[in-house]
Amino acid sequence: MISFVKALEGTLIRMEEDPEARYQFEIWFDYTRQAMNLIREGALLAVPNFASQPHATHRSILEVVSILPLHYALGDNPQGYPGFVVEAARSAVRDWEEQEHEPTEDVTKIRCIAIPTNLELVEENGESHLQEESNLPMIGARALLLDTPSTEHVLNSGLPQGVPTFTVGNLTRDPQVGVKVSAEDLLRTHFAVFGFTGAGKSNLVSTLVDRILHAFSTEDPTQPVPQERVKVVLFDLMGEYSVLLADWLVKAPDACLLVLTEETLPEDVLQFMEQPTNRESFSKALTALTQTTLYPKALSGRRTDFWFAWRRLLNPKTARIHLYREKPPTLGRFVERHWNPKGTLGKNDARIRQAVRNWIATEDATPFNEENAGRLLEWIDKMFVSGLLSTNDAREAFQNLRDAVDDAFRRYISPRHVYDAYQMTLGELMSRLNDPHSCGLYVVQSHDPDHLRDFAATLGELMFENRRKTGKISPMVVFVFDEADEFIPQRREAADDSYNRSRSMVMTLARRGRKFGLGVGIATQRVRYLDTSIMAQPHTYFVSKMPRQSDRQAIAEAFGISEEMFGQTFKFKKGDWLLMSHDAVGLEAVPIPIHCEDANRRVEAFLEQLKAEWQKTREMARAQP
Ligand SMILES: Nc1ncnc2c1ncn2[C@@H]1O[C@H](COP(=O)(O)OP(=O)(O)O)[C@@H](O)[C@H]1O
Ligand SMILES: [Mg+2]
Repeated sequence: MISFVKALEGTLIRMEEDPEARYQFEIWFDYTRQAMNLIREGALLAVPNFASQPHATHRSILEVVSILPLHYALGDNPQGYPGFVVEAARSAVRDWEEQEHEPTEDVTKIRCIAIPTNLELVEENGESHLQEESNLPMIGARALLLDTPSTEHVLNSGLPQGVPTFTVGNLTRDPQVGVKVSAEDLLRTHFAVFGFTGAGKSNLVSTLVDRILHAFSTEDPTQPVPQERVKVVLFDLMGEYSVLLADWLVKAPDACLLVLTEETLPEDVLQFMEQPTNRESFSKALTALTQTTLYPKALSGRRTDFWFAWRRLLNPKTARIHLYREKPPTLGRFVERHWNPKGTLGKNDARIRQAVRNWIATEDATPFNEENAGRLLEWIDKMFVSGLLSTNDAREAFQNLRDAVDDAFRRYISPRHVYDAYQMTLGELMSRLNDPHSCGLYVVQSHDPDHLRDFAATLGELMFENRRKTGKISPMVVFVFDEADEFIPQRREAADDSYNRSRSMVMTLARRGRKFGLGVGIATQRVRYLDTSIMAQPHTYFVSKMPRQSDRQAIAEAFGISEEMFGQTFKFKKGDWLLMSHDAVGLEAVPIPIHCEDANRRVEAFLEQLKAEWQKTREMARAQP
């Protein structure tokens, strides 16, 4: 049953067509200070519409998107003799202050702009229900404000039943109203987080991952037993999620911090990984991790408490920090991949190609190790002195091959020999992503952005191909890219680099991943730097302050709402988001202003818990004779 806030009535004064929201409405309320606090962006109003009949009232449900207190004596744009204007303004203050609960002055009004939610409330024979709006609200009709439970009901009424959902945040104007999203739709139809630096994007990504893993875990008694599991792969360019998701890295059924390059880890940690036997080097490694990790300001005072998390991740018995190990290609494959002549090979063209073909054929199964790589280098040297390489292009092709061997040497052969428990190959990661039994979180870091992009491209391509070939659609895997402009930048002509590879992989996943259970999440402050075709792919957006109009325009255009909607984001504080979704929330494509919990608080609480557990075990150990 829908109910309204008592003794508060507005009047629908005006409506006009709006290309994006269909219509825009103007509603006036009598001013009181109390009303000014109740009617805010995100408030829902019910206004009788033309479908009403004598025995059944149909009320259109509208959402307030902007409000302005109006004083007749001042108007919109005070003009005239300055002394009078100031005098009028001063006397207006009294009118604002004196009308607490009761409107007594006709000169003050609250003017709201509202948009349709495309729902209507039908009241008939003492019963009421919601349905799709069947006609337009009537000008001059009374507008009533929905109370807290009714607002919550309407906001979430369109969500499907029996699927995992979670409360993503609370209505900014009324923290008692929880706003829910459908976890599966959020992931399958992709999501995006847009806001300027410091708006709280990474913090929100942490909260989203937390809620998603909860929603799909079997332990949560408030959820229907989930039909499938979810795997979250997070590409962490700034190295901030070992902290922001420290709790799930420790407690998720399956989780790992996958480090692509040795340089990403402190030396003490690498040394311990090579010889994880002695207590002293364990403690040195933990200290190094504690000191070198990047903490958000709110958590930097607690860095010593992270020790309790790092010791769980680095413990060789339960290791959850892994160094990525690539399986090198065979020598033949290697040459096939890296010998790419560009121009003309001159008069010896046929003989050079024959020599390369022979090498590929004979070395097809030879492993790429130190000795064999040395032989490959000798062969390249021989080609140089053979006299066959008569053109610049021919010499360049072999020079590039030589550089590739040097690169590969560093990549496959020189790495330090960390213990097996700390290694992970692509194959292992893939099989964990395809394991249907548990939820998982995989945070991927590298000190080298090119490496991270390349790895993302390889993993994404392999996952997509694997799913396409096997027809597998579960478990659901979502690839999350923070600083997404570094992964999906605008196309540059003829550049064959890690940017191009990662962009084309993300585009494939965004366009075609859905039917294979592969989703994408992106977060960025630089909307204009993104490849424009990615913008239309996410069906759910979280938008915070975007100071540049061109950014707001790009978002508005891609989502299909009016740019004015973002007016309310100017007042947003950290953790405030305009949530809009075509699929994952109860109201389709209606922007909802919400506040999301601070992820730092969640992580802090988890550290407290770890600390308490640790102290308890110590006490028990001491108490034993
Ligand atoms: N919901 C929130 N509540 C309180 N503080 C927040 C919230 N979200 C972010 N912050 C704080 O704001 C700062 C910037 O957050 P961050 O997530 O790093 O922003 P971004 O990724 O957009 O640059 C951090 O210090 C963070 O702790
Ligand atoms: Mg960030």
